[in-house]
Amino acid sequence: MIDLLIIRAEIFTSDGKLKKGEKLKEVKHLSDYGIAVKDGIITDIGKTEDMLKKYHRQAKEILDAGGKALIPGFVDPHTHAVFTGSREQEFKMRLEGKSYMEILQAGGGILNTLKKVREASLDELVIELKKRVRLFFAYGTTTFEAKSGYGLNFDDEIKMLKAIQIVNSETDAEIIPTFIGAHAIPPEYKDNKEKYIEKLINEIIPYVAENKLAEFIDVFCEKGVYTAGETLKILKAGEKYGLKPKMHADEIESIGCSELAEKLKIYSCDHLLKIKKSGIEAMKKGDTIATLLPGTAFSLKEPFANARELIDNGLAVALATDCNPGSSFSESMPQIITLAVLMMNMLPKEALNAATINAAYAIDKQNKLGSIEIGKQADFVILKEKSYLFIPYHYGVNPIWKTFKRGKCVSTADY
Ligand code: NIG
Ligand code: FE
Repeated sequence: MIDLLIIRAEIFTSDGKLKKGEKLKEVKHLSDYGIAVKDGIITDIGKTEDMLKKYHRQAKEILDAGGKALIPGFVDPHTHAVFTGSREQEFKMRLEGKSYMEILQAGGGILNTLKKVREASLDELVIELKKRVRLFFAYGTTTFEAKSGYGLNFDDEIKMLKAIQIVNSETDAEIIPTFIGAHAIPPEYKDNKEKYIEKLINEIIPYVAENKLAEFIDVFCEKGVYTAGETLKILKAGEKYGLKPKMHADEIESIGCSELAEKLKIYSCDHLLKIKKSGIEAMKKGDTIATLLPGTAFSLKEPFANARELIDNGLAVALATDCNPGSSFSESMPQIITLAVLMMNMLPKEALNAATINAAYAIDKQNKLGSIEIGKQADFVILKEKSYLFIPYHYGVNPIWKTFKRGKCVSTADY
């Protein structure tokens, strides 16, 4: 017996290999195909006719996709989805001319959300995150990374990571936790950043790693936040405890952050709006994924990252929402794909790979996520239309019909 048989789908997927440079355009189209699922895993893929012959008497459930497109579930490799409260007043201030960094330096921004997250109970964070998971599913994201970073002290950072752990165990969500204690300078250490870094290295990082509360460690490497030297020190401390390094790099200014990719194994450098040639070279040497977050440039009204330059230089580009209450408030990867193709000149095939297989590589989950292949987790979405091209083409509306996580339908559009 199999659990689920999907028939008559137009499948668009990669072959599961990392897509660098030119290869980012490689998408296979399997027309009139079916998928067999057992125990949450893809066990067979073939022409509808053959799949029906093999499985029609032994499938617990059969779903006729009716010629609609089926693609891997989106993997969103960079979010700050654990938060409470909102910052619509700051959004308004930015539209009136204040910059994101001015708001942060005046005690708003990340520090505004910090206040609300510190006040919130673990249960409140769990409830908010569960609501957000439903939105991620509705917009086709089957796995997302989520960071701490709005606690910036021992108890509240741990509280954020525990919220992720609880939501993973109580729902169908698969959220990959990242520790970013170095997301801003906590108000208590405003004039003593060194001391906070020591606390991160000696107390919080060891506890997070030993209790398996995070898989990755991240730093906001930026002028006025953490320098490249401090970032290296923090990431190395995390690495020592088995946390995998990633980084917010070259977002607002270039201060030597992506250049660190030469110095330790960094899984991904994210943002890269202001990356220089030296950063591109270092990332090439380090085999580091370039995760681009066009929703952030869009929302901050900044020039977009130069995706073409990164791709043409042979880097592997991934896409993410950066979902957070300040610089990019969206759970929608379809929206990100739209921005990637219309504002960063990526081709639709490149954007599809960047939002699926390359995004899986960015969070080190390429062995089980990111493509439609036998043996991989049955995480996929069926669109409302026959081609993935409708994602950016019919923009601003939700293109997803059904989302499947480990072979289970976790979201269906009602129109
Ligand atoms: O990736 N740059 C730092 N962190 C987030 C913003 C978080 C926030 O504003 O709450 C980002 O843009
Ligand atoms: Fe971010």
